[in-house]
Amino acid sequence: MTSDLPLVIVTRQLPQAIIDKLSAVATLNIWEEDRAIPQDTLLAWVPGCHAIYSLLTDPIDSSVLDAAGANLKVVSQMAVGVDNIDVAACTARGIPVGHTPNALTDTTADLAVALMLAVGRRIAAAAQFVKVGKWDTWRPMELTGKDLYGSTVGIIGFGRIGKAVAQRVRGFDCHILYNHPRSDPDAAQYAAAYVNLDTLLKSSDFISLHTPLTEETRHMIGAEELAMMKSDAIIVNTARGAIVDQAALVKALQEGKIGGAGLDVTDPEPISVDDPLLKLDNVIVVPHIGSASVTTRMRIAHMAADNLIAGLHGERLPNVYNPEVYSD
Ligand code: NAP
Ligand code: GLV
Repeated sequence: MTSDLPLVIVTRQLPQAIIDKLSAVATLNIWEEDRAIPQDTLLAWVPGCHAIYSLLTDPIDSSVLDAAGANLKVVSQMAVGVDNIDVAACTARGIPVGHTPNALTDTTADLAVALMLAVGRRIAAAAQFVKVGKWDTWRPMELTGKDLYGSTVGIIGFGRIGKAVAQRVRGFDCHILYNHPRSDPDAAQYAAAYVNLDTLLKSSDFISLHTPLTEETRHMIGAEELAMMKSDAIIVNTARGAIVDQAALVKALQEGKIGGAGLDVTDPEPISVDDPLLKLDNVIVVPHIGSASVTTRMRIAHMAADNLIAGLHGERLPNVYNPEVYSD
């Protein structure tokens, strides 16, 4: 029996509450396997669909949009970053792209600060030290690290998450520098000083990345930028892996040019278990868990469903990345 309901492609199994919400208004084609949907499967599934519920692991490029055809009314992503989506191609076709700003800001900022502390205070190495039975006594300089409190924190990308990180590290009495396409009128409330990128790189003890991944920000932290950092600087990336030239980062870490790295995102994802980064004691890599609290992941899953349903109904998405698709 064919259904009159619109067809929605859902690229991964989602919590039941989200499936229930979507299936009340649409027929769902859900990729049930516990891995990203293969691109050829996505291309085979999308013809005639009305909406795509995507994850950041799914390249939604013009081949997908072309295969979907004229019925496609909305692409809704369960993430704030949309670098996996060809937004320009969506806009050219009049397709709104939904995303999930604000809802994950605090959870992601918490993780950025957790990584600063974890790398600075050598938490992973210290926990391992105990697990392997090396804790035989207390030694004056054993497992000593670097203080976050009172340090200079450089924030690159002073948007929602960048500001939330600034708010947090103020509580650690940090000096806050930020780099952004322009100085921000809100900066005073965070006691954050606008500086150019070179000054930020040269002056910061901790550097935290919060830009989107764009053609401009791809590899914005490369060998030259790493060479400007203090020899004990710690870089934290909770934005996108490709903002950092990872080969250059490995080299800088191996040669002791910087102090350490805390990475929630890598290039590529997942990182290979054989990657040299994972051999370094002063590096912590976690698997893209920036927004991974139960509350936040549920919230953004609902937001993406709400965006998608609005798009199916021809309404303005509550959170649209490309508002230029609307003429008003
Ligand atoms: P946002 O509010 O848009 O902030 C990003 C800021 O970066 C924008 O204000 C932007 O300025 C600025 N920017 C752009 N290019 C820059 C450059 N070359 N140099 C310095 N600043 C630049 O976004 P957000 O909500 O904070 O999220 C930021 C990114 O974090 C997302 O795009 C996503 O990739 C990542 N993220 C990761 C996780 C995770 O799980 N690890 C979770 C959430 C988000 P303009 O306003 O001028 O564009
Ligand atoms: C996660 O990485 C997001 O962009 O929401």
